[in-house]
Amino acid sequence: MRSNGCGDLRTKHIASDVQLCGWVDRYRDHGGVIFIDLRDSSGTIQVTVDPDQGSELFKTAESIRNETVLQISGTVRSRPAEAMNQKLATGEIEVLANNLEILNHVQGILPFTISIHDEETVKEELRLRYRYLDLRRESMNRNLRLRHRTSQTARQFLENEGFIEIETPILTKSTPEGARDYLVPSRVCEGEWFALPQSPQLFKQLLMVGGIERYYQIARCFRDEDLRSDRQPEFTQLDIEMSFMSQEQILDINERLIASIWKAVKGVDLTLPFQRMTWQEAMARFGTDRPDTRYGMELVDVSEIVKNIGFKIFSNAVKGGGSVKCITVKNGNNAISNVRIKPGGDVFSEAQKAGSGGLAFIRVREQKEIDTIGAIKDSLSDEQKKQLLKQTGAEEGDLILFGAGETSIVNKALDRVRQFLANELQLIPTNQESNKWNFLWIVDFPMFEFNREEKRLEALHHPFCAPNREDLGTDPQQWCKTLPNARAQAYDLVLNGLELGGGSLRIHNAELQKEVFKAIGLPQQAAKEQFGFLINALQMGAPPHGGIAFGLDRIVMLLAGEESIRDTIAFPKTQQARCLMTQAPSNINKTQLEELHVTSTWKEPD
Ligand code: AMO
Repeated sequence: MRSNGCGDLRTKHIASDVQLCGWVDRYRDHGGVIFIDLRDSSGTIQVTVDPDQGSELFKTAESIRNETVLQISGTVRSRPAEAMNQKLATGEIEVLANNLEILNHVQGILPFTISIHDEETVKEELRLRYRYLDLRRESMNRNLRLRHRTSQTARQFLENEGFIEIETPILTKSTPEGARDYLVPSRVCEGEWFALPQSPQLFKQLLMVGGIERYYQIARCFRDEDLRSDRQPEFTQLDIEMSFMSQEQILDINERLIASIWKAVKGVDLTLPFQRMTWQEAMARFGTDRPDTRYGMELVDVSEIVKNIGFKIFSNAVKGGGSVKCITVKNGNNAISNVRIKPGGDVFSEAQKAGSGGLAFIRVREQKEIDTIGAIKDSLSDEQKKQLLKQTGAEEGDLILFGAGETSIVNKALDRVRQFLANELQLIPTNQESNKWNFLWIVDFPMFEFNREEKRLEALHHPFCAPNREDLGTDPQQWCKTLPNARAQAYDLVLNGLELGGGSLRIHNAELQKEVFKAIGLPQQAAKEQFGFLINALQMGAPPHGGIAFGLDRIVMLLAGEESIRDTIAFPKTQQARCLMTQAPSNINKTQLEELHVTSTWKEPD
């Protein structure tokens, strides 16, 4: 149907006869001559329809409108000098049409314009409802191509390293990755359910037991969890597992994989190895295990200085086993008013959203004199003031914001405030060119964290991570004592404050795996029912193995400079986990439910 792509034509094609297909991107009638910008996936070209070429042709051209699908035959010619458009790759030429056929019409009104010339801001709801039109727009088209290039580069890299791609089941048994499962009732096994995989975790481990040694998969995962701009209920992992490799070797291969993607997609040479930071250090300095290290404003623990002062909020926090930490906002005195830090203010509300009761603050005035509204100033001795300024590095004009209480809440609150202020005060380099790609491995995670509500230990990543061997010790009799405080041989890759991926070495010893199930309070019988197949496999010669999974959508989001992974997925879901285009999820009929042995308890609200 066509000889060339619209966007592929150049001056070398001048005088050639071509046949093109595409959509009308823009249509202009300039007093007798009609100009059509014809667009296909390769780009756009200007087509000129001159009445001299025949009245029939001109009549057809007059009946078209934006997004009409056309086939055009014509001759490539140079544009007059004054009509050249240097911004377009095809801007020096045009096609003089000698035949024009309408392949399809647009009926009704288009919900938004698509033209590459003015990509208007369209409400996301409308974009998702008419996603097929949205995909015709240049930005989405570009993102999907970038996504393809990303997975293609990953595939190439991994295959050169001896990895093979293997698909794992979608109808499967629940794997504990921390979210709720999407469930599928079985028709033939009455009353029983499949779970859609939250990740291929157990299958990839079983592939290692199966002697595959190097596996990867671009794997669809399903998690029923609260959605955010970087979370979808259905998302894609670049999932990797390998045998007989140390943690160092796994990190190395993954750094090279990431570097190959950044080189192919962005043309950027990343410096290897990536920086490393222990979980402990990340929590102390940033209050989070995925710190954005592109800017400062780090957390400083001042518990020692304030543990005995008269300001009870501080001293009681330390005495109660918590801490007092702070961040210093450079020149914050001018930038942030008291109203914003006090109840009702936007900075206050950030801390509150993290569960904190509020923020105490100090302003450093001339001669490093400390000024505060509350009682902190009066309860600090001159020596304590001096220590505070020394430890925080605060200077004249700076604002110090404090969080006090349970350490985990203080960390969460100050992390939130730090990120909020960094955005607001524009401390983050946003220019793509000069943007710093701050890759960071967080290592030495704890194996477990304490779940207060359920009063039990919970695996921080998942219960298959191998503990640090030194922490564990060699005596299996002691494992029940050493395990709860052991570090895991686990690692996350963080980029500019976003978790790109996470993985670990795995437990390949059945007894140790049982011990971990015990530590997280999983009764023996339940462990057997849920994970008996894994324990059996570990007993049959499982090799030492480990791996990682990257969030492919998140990688593409950062490469494309987008704010949401929805802009990297062809057909994403909304925050309510709904597809606006197909209207899924939707009701099903009673017979289907009966066949599946399912009764719904849902009642429409009155
Ligand atoms: P984890 O749960 O950390 O590890 O997931 C790995 C990566 O997947 C991405 N991710 C998501 N992306 C979009 N939407 C979501 N809802 C979502 N949830 C997670 C993140 C994350 O870093 N089986 C382990 C990996 C392993 O141990 O090898 C796992 O799934 O980028």
